[in-house]
Amino acid sequence: MTQDVTLAQVAKVFRRNGTSTPVFDDISLTVDRGEFVAILGPSGCGKSTILRLIAGLEQPTAGQVAIGGREVSVTDDRCAVVFQEPRLLPWRTVSANVALGARRRKGDQRHRVRALLDEVGLADTAKAWPHQLSGGMAQRVALARGLAAEPDVLLLDEPFAALDALTRLKMQDLLLQVREHHPQTVVLVTHDIDEALHLADRIVILGDTPARVVATHRIPAPRPRERSNPTIGRLRDDILHRFGVGVTPEREDTDCPGALAAD
Ligand SMILES: Nc1ncnc2c1ncn2[C@@H]1O[C@H](COP(=O)(O)OP(=O)(O)OP(=O)(O)O)[C@@H](O)[C@H]1O
Ligand SMILES: [Mg+2]
Repeated sequence: MTQDVTLAQVAKVFRRNGTSTPVFDDISLTVDRGEFVAILGPSGCGKSTILRLIAGLEQPTAGQVAIGGREVSVTDDRCAVVFQEPRLLPWRTVSANVALGARRRKGDQRHRVRALLDEVGLADTAKAWPHQLSGGMAQRVALARGLAAEPDVLLLDEPFAALDALTRLKMQDLLLQVREHHPQTVVLVTHDIDEALHLADRIVILGDTPARVVATHRIPAPRPRERSNPTIGRLRDDILHRFGVGVTPEREDTDCPGALAAD
């Protein structure tokens, strides 16, 4: 597999009012081309900072962040980010918001916008205004806008966290469906272990202060996955146990499924 996203010995220190917050002092992480990686970790440990570093929105204090072997920069447009809130422009229609994502791409933008709205199930909503959308619809527009940029890497920062439970599950399935046509590298930050287990090829768990990768799990089940898959259930128990939730039942086979050494 070709490595796509690389964080090599990255340190990041934020300075504010004379105090320094070291978020990472030496973190390394790679994501292969086309791989879907989910990042889990406690609040404030630096998950969003990792996405911002990959997108070029933050500069590392030390170390390198690269996509496809080329270091990222502030002007990089190789990533698209979808945030927890849709961040749509209220004075633009749905299709005009999606077109914003496509503005740097050559070719027939109107066709691309129409095709994407169709993919996210909003073909009839192209002319609506953001205030006329439900939360789930608005987030589908945000996803379409991200995909319209045809990014090499799609960065998702808790994109479904503000949605109700059922809409969230539907959005996860929509993301997998849409991904069949957009097989780029994805890095998803989520607090929802089940979401990570349903969507990702690999889960990276961050911990400690400054943060480091404390565990990596490859998910040992092909997609589409049954949410009741017993192998995934065992992996969920192990991950919850790592976060101090519940007790892992004694098993004959004590190996955690999919466990890899932290990289
Ligand atoms: N621009 C900034 N200036 C100063 N400190 C910052 C800045 N951005 C982030 N931080 C600090 O860096 C740490 C990591 O923040 P980050 O947003 O990456 O955490 P997170 O893991 O995404 O948290 P959450 O799960 O709550 O979203 C926090 O202590 C935060 O206060
Ligand atoms: Mg965050």
